[in-house]
Amino acid sequence: VFGILDYGSQYNQLVCRRVRDEGVYSEICSYKDAPEKLKQGNVIGIILTGGPHSVYESNSFSLPKEVLESKLPVLGICYGFQLLSYYLGGEVKGLNKSEFGNAKVNVINSDSLLLKNIPSSFISFMSHNDSVTKLPSGFIKNAETDSCPNAIASDETRKIYGVQFHPEVNDTEFGQQIIRNFLFEIVKADKNWTMENFIEDKVKEIKEKVKPDERVLLGLSGGVDSSVTAALLSKAIGKRLTCVFVNHGLLRKNEVKEVIDTFKNFDLDFKYVDASNDFYKALAGVTEPEEKRKIIGKLFVETFRKEADKLGKIDYLAQGTIYPDVVESGLGGNSAKIKSHHNVGGLPKDIGFKGLVEPLRYLFKDEVRRTGLSLGLPESLVFRQPFPGPGLGIRIIGEVTAEKVKIVQDADYILREEIKNAGYDKQISQYYAALTNMKTVGVQGDGRSYDYAVVIRAVKTIDFMTAKPFDLPYSILTRIADRIVDEVDHVSRVFFDYTSKPPATIEME
Ligand code: XMP
Repeated sequence: VFGILDYGSQYNQLVCRRVRDEGVYSEICSYKDAPEKLKQGNVIGIILTGGPHSVYESNSFSLPKEVLESKLPVLGICYGFQLLSYYLGGEVKGLNKSEFGNAKVNVINSDSLLLKNIPSSFISFMSHNDSVTKLPSGFIKNAETDSCPNAIASDETRKIYGVQFHPEVNDTEFGQQIIRNFLFEIVKADKNWTMENFIEDKVKEIKEKVKPDERVLLGLSGGVDSSVTAALLSKAIGKRLTCVFVNHGLLRKNEVKEVIDTFKNFDLDFKYVDASNDFYKALAGVTEPEEKRKIIGKLFVETFRKEADKLGKIDYLAQGTIYPDVVESGLGGNSAKIKSHHNVGGLPKDIGFKGLVEPLRYLFKDEVRRTGLSLGLPESLVFRQPFPGPGLGIRIIGEVTAEKVKIVQDADYILREEIKNAGYDKQISQYYAALTNMKTVGVQGDGRSYDYAVVIRAVKTIDFMTAKPFDLPYSILTRIADRIVDEVDHVSRVFFDYTSKPPATIEME
């Protein structure tokens, strides 16, 4: 294990990714938990991340003494570098102006393993107010920028290194090379982090945890995370895994069939519950978005619970929690909570299980996808775009009815088909058709029509917190509009939503 000690940097996950990209398993850990982690004895090197504080502030984060006592190689990034310098007797000061953005790094002394195959100058990404103004004894200065006296420094004897810029950010040229140098020249890590090894280890771990007479229950939504969780558990415990797939009648066209067909091929106990009519009944007459969400969420849990009650004794509940969920829910409280998870399909933890099984808890999304492919899940499922828990319920504005669900399913299917045929499916972060609550007049055949307007949304985003409309060519938009009006009953018009987030959200409701 390679340890990333988190000091609240917005880039903590990125640092972790960069290490894993090199085939070295890494974990983010609050600096407060470092002593505990180090005691486990399997950490081979440590990176201290950046963070929003100044080492002189009273609320600044500390460097646990165990980190240096461990004698493991340490690389401090930004605040991490300042912290190392401060603790080792150097000096850190506020610059007159903060340095933010790209800065040219000039290498003064390349006599460090950290600088192998790094040119004498390169562009780096900086984001800091303070700088290390005097290095601790034993350190040599390797590089500087115009406004930062120590941009890279090293103590080759103690294997302690610091960089003021962010090597993990793409804007830093040779940033990945610096990380590689630290991992392989200094820490001498093995490249053994592969999804095949992960699957093998997890299967073993699950077999040890879930005893031969014990059973596990999983709520399968058809999404990537729960599907990969199912496939992995199936490999470990076969039919002692029961997957309950609740159809709330608000899934996309053909999705139910795809999920059923996929899991037919896996060794597990599959329970399909078609609760569509219950959901439509509960949603009848309801138009307020939050109320719709609440009804769907509550009924989903009730339905799941009813099904679980029929199963007899179940020992564990499995969940498709993934690493960003864990980190973003506040790792020891260092990083600001970025996204609150509106997991409407979330399941109650109080059904009385012995514990949770969360085999994907340490994987990033693309690692989850790679694991899914290795386990034999189809690409269509593994690369499925995000779909909200309340499903089409929040893509039908106003009251939800079975008839409206059919309209939006058919329109959405055409949209997905056209986007895929045009080769845009992997470029757009999320796209869907929604049904407005507006009827408009049109001419269809020889007569006047008075039917619904469908709206198309396609956005590009990195973190789903902000988003921009995706620029689809007119020819494709026209084709989609023509086909929807032509092929879907009760649609007279198609609009394209060109609003960014903010001020709009990605979903309609
Ligand atoms: P918004 O509409 O908030 O969407 O801009 C951001 C992302 O979150 C998804 N989303 C949800 N996911 N339950 C979910 O599981 C929900 O209630 C929900 N609402 C929005 C949305 O699809 C987008 O990816």
